[in-house]
Amino acid sequence: MQTRRSLIDLDDFSSQELQDIFTRAAAFEEHRPERRLTGTACVNLFFEQSTRTFTSFNLAELRLGADIVNLRPSDLSSATKGESIEDTALTLAAMGVAVIVVRHSRNGFAEEVAQSFDGHVINAGDGTHAHPTQALLDLYTILREFPELQGRTIAIVGDVLHSRVAHSLVSGLKRFEANVVLVGPEAFVPSEYVSDGVRVERSLDAVLETADAIALLRIQRERFDVMPMSDAEYVERYCLSEARLKKLRERTIVMHPGPYNRGMELEECVLDYAGWRYAKQVMHGVAIRMAVLDLLVNGA
Ligand code: NCD
Repeated sequence: MQTRRSLIDLDDFSSQELQDIFTRAAAFEEHRPERRLTGTACVNLFFEQSTRTFTSFNLAELRLGADIVNLRPSDLSSATKGESIEDTALTLAAMGVAVIVVRHSRNGFAEEVAQSFDGHVINAGDGTHAHPTQALLDLYTILREFPELQGRTIAIVGDVLHSRVAHSLVSGLKRFEANVVLVGPEAFVPSEYVSDGVRVERSLDAVLETADAIALLRIQRERFDVMPMSDAEYVERYCLSEARLKKLRERTIVMHPGPYNRGMELEECVLDYAGWRYAKQVMHGVAIRMAVLDLLVNGA
């Protein structure tokens, strides 16, 4: 199938399209656009819990004038009546649904939907694999501070192994030739992550004075069988504490995709830090998702 453009991971967009998305998002932030998705039916299908991404997609679709159906997984025939996700996708397409936004705990699920759906699929997070719209809003947020990313140092701290956010963000940062430093213990940041433009650092203290941006990650407890490290040890080594905050350079920004856990990856004082960009990330998310929807549905 796959006759229409989908966004499964950032590689689906050329560098020019990434720029196009950022330009559109900036325009949408400036002026609320006309209803560019009037008559376009969007189904939001979230098999995993979500506060930010779900609300953000809903608002983006509403602001573009789309018709929206939020389909709860427990309502799906595939849940109890044996229908395959392929047949669900065929059914939705036959009804005229043009866009499916999907989140699932299994890597590759969004791609599977895209293979059998005659419409656009947007991956809102599949397992530990990818979360492209989060990466786009993160990149957009960083680019707002540092329009030239080449040579900038971006540290991503914590459970990189299970973070679809980190996986997509790293691939985006490489496209912009930033220096990526992945920070965490081997169990969260395996040495195999080292590649061109990406290095691994075991000590958070070692990057505080050189990072331009620090992206903190939540420990994905739900994806571990056994936690490899106690909370106390994690906090001791990787929590962004007041003492660590004081070592950052003046222009260093701190980000988090949310949900963040106070007392784990950050101390409360981070929320008052001048460079804390969480609210901006969330705000940018709506404009970025509007831009992605607009590009996929209406073209360049
Ligand atoms: C993340 C996710 O679900 O991948 N959150 C988000 O979408 N903003 C990160 C997380 O759950 O820790």
